[in-house]
Amino acid sequence: MCGIVGYVGKRKVVPVLIEGLRRLEYRGYDSAGVAYLQDGELHRHRCEGKLINLEEIMEEVSADSRIGLGHTRWATHGAPSQRNAHPHCDCTGKLVVVHNGIIENYHSLREELQEKGHTFISETDTEVMAHLIEEHLENDLVEAVRMAITLVDGSFALGVMWSEQPDQLVAVRNQSPLVLGVLEDSGTFLASDIPALLPFTNSVVFLDDQEMAVLKKGSWQVMQAESGELVEKTPQVIDWNVGMAEKAGYRHFMLKEIFEQPQAVLNTFRGRFDPETGEVLLPEINLSKKELAQIKRISLVACGTSWHAAMVAKYWLEKWARIPVDVDIASEFRYRSLILNPNVLVVPISQSGETADTLAGMRLAKSMQAKIITICNVVGSTMTREADGTIYTHAGPEIGVASTKAFTAQMVALFLLTLFMAQAKKTISGEESRSLLSVLLELPVLIEKNLLRIQDEMMPISEEFSRSRDFLYLGRGINYPIALEGALKLKEISYIHAEGYASGELKHGPIALIDRDMPVLALAPRDSVYPKVLSNVEEVKARHGRMIVIGTEGDDELQRISDYVITLPEIHEDLNPILYTIPLQILAYQIANIRGCDVDQPRNLAKSVTVE
Ligand code: M6R
Repeated sequence: MCGIVGYVGKRKVVPVLIEGLRRLEYRGYDSAGVAYLQDGELHRHRCEGKLINLEEIMEEVSADSRIGLGHTRWATHGAPSQRNAHPHCDCTGKLVVVHNGIIENYHSLREELQEKGHTFISETDTEVMAHLIEEHLENDLVEAVRMAITLVDGSFALGVMWSEQPDQLVAVRNQSPLVLGVLEDSGTFLASDIPALLPFTNSVVFLDDQEMAVLKKGSWQVMQAESGELVEKTPQVIDWNVGMAEKAGYRHFMLKEIFEQPQAVLNTFRGRFDPETGEVLLPEINLSKKELAQIKRISLVACGTSWHAAMVAKYWLEKWARIPVDVDIASEFRYRSLILNPNVLVVPISQSGETADTLAGMRLAKSMQAKIITICNVVGSTMTREADGTIYTHAGPEIGVASTKAFTAQMVALFLLTLFMAQAKKTISGEESRSLLSVLLELPVLIEKNLLRIQDEMMPISEEFSRSRDFLYLGRGINYPIALEGALKLKEISYIHAEGYASGELKHGPIALIDRDMPVLALAPRDSVYPKVLSNVEEVKARHGRMIVIGTEGDDELQRISDYVITLPEIHEDLNPILYTIPLQILAYQIANIRGCDVDQPRNLAKSVTVE
């Protein structure tokens, strides 16, 4: 989704804005722009398309300014075009606004403002903000912003600059993330996401909803938007470094992140259990033994890939902790008649911690007194600040829009949560815990050892099927969500239509699709449902479908029934989902590459979906 960058300080502002925006490219956008103040005048440059277009424009401009705002826009209201790109101006041309989110009542506000004589240039909801602030502006920008936002419904993160107060930027947040980067006396930064700040500072201040900030060269202040009352905030140091958000020689972030999975898995379980006793230690859950004992149901809430992690966790939690588990897509959860109470543990799962639907579901659950433990990858994100506790996945920054390492890390975190709950409820023996954890301990090495081989063996398969129109993915039991995840990965980055099915469902409809042109990928590890999956594979073969099977090393039967086989080492069946995800990520990556798709920034998608 859209990206915001702002800076006021000693450095030249344009390179800071461009560098910051480059770090936010992964969020997805279709136009970009910057504005800065120089010699008392406001300058603005915007263009459609990628940041490189804006950079070319800026190379022709010699700007010595030290204060400005930048934006990458992901179109919602109005097509991607220069006219609709941010920053947007008021009628005087002295005030600019950058905005993430959606102004829901923009239409009526626009009509009212037009009646008062304001002239609109763009089709965006954002331009309303510029004129609304202008309408309330006398001599104090902070006051005008405060008054304007009281009239607005919807979500917003705003950066505002006015040439009559050329030493400050004003920012305000409501349901859309904003963070300050602070460097003692040399400058203050504004961004919608941490990677934009990493080249400059690790010291950050997160804004909460309905908070405003005034940024100056050597100082910053946060206040309540409604009352204007100052809010005390202490900068937090983020332990991500700029290298973590770079490609490090890989062709794409996605490939780098696939190869970072051994480390992401290891970092997520490291220090969280005692290998001798098998006891899982999750003090960050912040729930007492008494509170844990009272939990009667768990509700997992997430979107996209994170939802698939939730589906895997349902199998684990019900099997080992013997607790009933609901799994909901967050955008559905928030609109059904929920039955929640203090005895329900709600677990929102999110890489970004900012996904609007998951956040709204979490807030709703909180208002119904449910306990909230989030599983999240981004330190300080909104969900982590509002939940009762957070189990962080330590996957490091995930830049590729297609989630890979965050997904495997989420599964690890959920597996630990499962054992933690099972141990609290005494539904698992010490021996069982130790044995499962010993498999988890081996996973980073197993993934590491097999990555290059899978990459090589997958290439002919990717080449053969890169021009396919459709793909089916089949999985059964705990691997059914992995089939869904494989299909999602393929469709989002290669634009091939792909569906994941529980393989037992094949005969209830999708089997009608099978012919000589239909590639079908089946997950067939030697687990408790293996014979059933084999029968489903035979059904496909009998109808001449093109069969790719991912199965267990040494299983000769697979060669007979499939066109292509990729094997993986045999491990405890409960942990197969983590291992079996890897070949599906590689298949999607290779096919997207062969088709010449933009792997890291697929069309129409955004990394962090902060609108409903
Ligand atoms: O940040 P979140 O985990 O909340 O994001 C949820 C989905 O938007 C995300 O997983 C999306 O489906 C990815 N593009 C999948 O690769």
